[in-house]
Amino acid sequence: MNDVTVRLATEADRKKLEQLISDCYEEIYPNWYGEEVVYSALTHMLRIDPQLLQSGRYFAAEIEGELAGCGGWSPASGDAPVGQIRHFATHPKFMRRGVGSAILDRCVAAAEADGITVLQCFSSLAGEPFYAGHGFEKVQDVSVMLGGDEPFPAVLMERKLG
Ligand SMILES: CC(C)(COP(=O)(O)OP(=O)(O)OC[C@H]1O[C@@H](n2cnc3c(N)ncnc32)[C@H](O)[C@@H]1OP(=O)(O)O)[C@@H](O)C(=O)NCCC(=O)NCCS
Repeated sequence: MNDVTVRLATEADRKKLEQLISDCYEEIYPNWYGEEVVYSALTHMLRIDPQLLQSGRYFAAEIEGELAGCGGWSPASGDAPVGQIRHFATHPKFMRRGVGSAILDRCVAAAEADGITVLQCFSSLAGEPFYAGHGFEKVQDVSVMLGGDEPFPAVLMERKLG
């Protein structure tokens, strides 16, 4: 079944996409993180970076006209041809229907077209199986500080492109 369409996201999508990200974290993260980390994620990790949303590198996926997921990428700072996966989430209702994969494919194609040779991802623990299934290899466990005092345990992963 592949009824997923992917389009560019814009500022006009912000409210709905941030709600989608909130619904996603609220459902998924309690299976992977303690209460304080989930609370911190729901407080500090919902806002989509305005620069990302305006960059032409952040996408929304729809299934039958309904928003089903989002995600994007950005070039890493510096001169290296490295890209970073940014803010992926699938609505709980649409998990495991190819939404994340469709957005990731779009990101990979765009990054390759821009000469990126390595995609990096600071994956949540919940996202690790998804990225591992898409050619990303674990580099190391990391703790990401996202605002507030609660470190967010994550996994740095990398995929070579080209
Ligand atoms: C990561 C995430 C975006 C994946 O979205 P999704 O739309 O469900 O992914 P897809 O349906 O495209 O998954 C395709 C494949 O990835 C792998 N995969 C995805 N989720 C998985 C899971 N929970 N466990 C194991 N494998 C998984 C499987 O190989 C799956 O194929 P299958 O369903 O045929 O087995 C989603 O799980 C999510 O929103 N997680 C919570 C937020 C998060 O962790 N975001 C990433 C932060 S960097």
